[in-house]
Amino acid sequence: MASNATSASPVYSDTVVRAFALVAVLWGIVGMLVGVIVAAQLAFPDLTAGIPWLSYGRLRPLHTNAVIFAFGGSVLFATSYHVVQRTCQTRLFMPRLAMFTFVGWQVVILLAAITLPLGMTTGKEYAELEWPIDILIAIVWVAYAVVFFGTVGTRKVRHIYVANWFFGAFILAVALLHIVNSAEIPVSLTKSYSAYAGVQDAMVQWWYGHNAVGFFLTAGFLGMMYYYIPKQAGRPVYSYRLSIVHFWALIFTYMWAGPHHLHYTALPDWAQSVGMIFSLVLLAPSWGGMINGIMTLSGAWHKLRDDPILKFLIVSLSFYGMSTFEGPMMSIKTVNALSHYTDWTVGHVHSGALGWVGLISMGSLYHLIPRMFGREKMYSTRAVELHFWVATIGIVLYIAAMWIAGVMQGLMWRAVNPDGTLVYTFVESVKATFPFYVIRLGGGALYLTGMLIMAWNTIKTVQVGKVTTARIPLVAAHA
Ligand code: HEM
Ligand code: HEM
Repeated sequence: MASNATSASPVYSDTVVRAFALVAVLWGIVGMLVGVIVAAQLAFPDLTAGIPWLSYGRLRPLHTNAVIFAFGGSVLFATSYHVVQRTCQTRLFMPRLAMFTFVGWQVVILLAAITLPLGMTTGKEYAELEWPIDILIAIVWVAYAVVFFGTVGTRKVRHIYVANWFFGAFILAVALLHIVNSAEIPVSLTKSYSAYAGVQDAMVQWWYGHNAVGFFLTAGFLGMMYYYIPKQAGRPVYSYRLSIVHFWALIFTYMWAGPHHLHYTALPDWAQSVGMIFSLVLLAPSWGGMINGIMTLSGAWHKLRDDPILKFLIVSLSFYGMSTFEGPMMSIKTVNALSHYTDWTVGHVHSGALGWVGLISMGSLYHLIPRMFGREKMYSTRAVELHFWVATIGIVLYIAAMWIAGVMQGLMWRAVNPDGTLVYTFVESVKATFPFYVIRLGGGALYLTGMLIMAWNTIKTVQVGKVTTARIPLVAAHA
């Protein structure tokens, strides 16, 4: 914190940051626990004894919604509210509205946790929640936009730091995606049908789905990268110019890549090819951003040795690089012919989700949480280090198992005898996958264990810390 703050300076609005940061840890545990349960169900299908609300089909969307929107969403709210105040040198615009976004978002999460196990769903992946909840999401999101852009608009520094560009694009794009994709015709309080039909419905859904990855799971987290890596490393961003090119190239390209989810479907062939080409182009801005983040450490690599928070932040970028190399490859039609429907996709998803989204969130929270409770560090740095290694081993087990299983499934399904009959029955591929499902379950359990270590460390940090009111410097200093 800049030293030119005096006791007369106004204070940052950090109550909402603290609230979102703490619930993020809680929702992380819940979402990942459900992930471990569905992973166990895939290996041992009879596990939940046919109880409908514990069935795989209902728990899987509960998992995806909990990890993406409850865990990821809470981390995004916490960090964006924290970063925008520090980089704009002002407190949140309408702090009470910010508290409304906290309460509103928690209500959305609770409604999701009730309705999904009851089987109420639109059936659209990552947009399963029914129309009344969709309306609540839209209201909360508009409030979020007012608070965030209001804060940027009332900033005390001239420049808008690049992290805010990424957070801002994430907020605007998610509003657009959510409103367009959720256009639906209600038939009762708990059931609606999409306003689109046939292949248009599929295209709108995957325009949404892919940009949910690009904006919900990527742009906002890149905002974290541009703030927390320089802060934790104590060094400026490697290239500010590259960060601007990175921003515009990334947001322009993502919007067009959605059709790679619909290869070999009724979608016109040219649209599939457009999706493929934009996906290949996407490699460049993604890697530009990754290099910018990693190179921020140049000249200070030694810090990686004993700072586990930097390990979280930097290793998350290697997984980002890995999944954004793999994604463009999988978007090539001939590669997708092998990978689609297999566990290769699930491996790709989790190298992005566990490796990139998970690790950057944890690193950012480890930087943020102690500071929100008047401390420089978490209660136990050794526990942070342990968390890092347990999580990393968990990710490697998870994704390696899924890659091997996925390629094996793809090859088994396409193997034909000289007379044109299939070499393997489907069930043979399921049997061959079993050991890999068990390994994935072990990897997932390790990742969840890491999250439990984080929860213990967070509780201890809160107990020994105290809620402080950080003052805003009177003369704008660089954040
Ligand atoms: C303990 C950690 C986790 C475990 C054990 C786990 C497990 C699983 C399992 C078993 C599935 C279903 C796969 C299938 O359909 O065959 C799944 C799907 C998914 N998970 Fe996770 N998961 C974990 C953490 C996460 C996190 C942190 C995120 C996001 C930030 C995430 C995002 C997703 C997504 C997006 C899907 C849907 C993938 C698709 O449709 O291809 N998961 N997860
Ligand atoms: C350059 C960046 C990326 C490209 C071009 C890309 C491309 C792809 C492709 C081609 C698929 C398979 C589609 C299919 O066969 O159905 C896919 C699936 C997926 N990817 Fe990526 N990917 C990228 C980065 C990421 C990242 C960083 C994440 C996570 C944070 C991610 C999350 C997902 C998810 C959740 C799915 C599964 C969607 C579903 O079927 O439910 N992707 N991606």
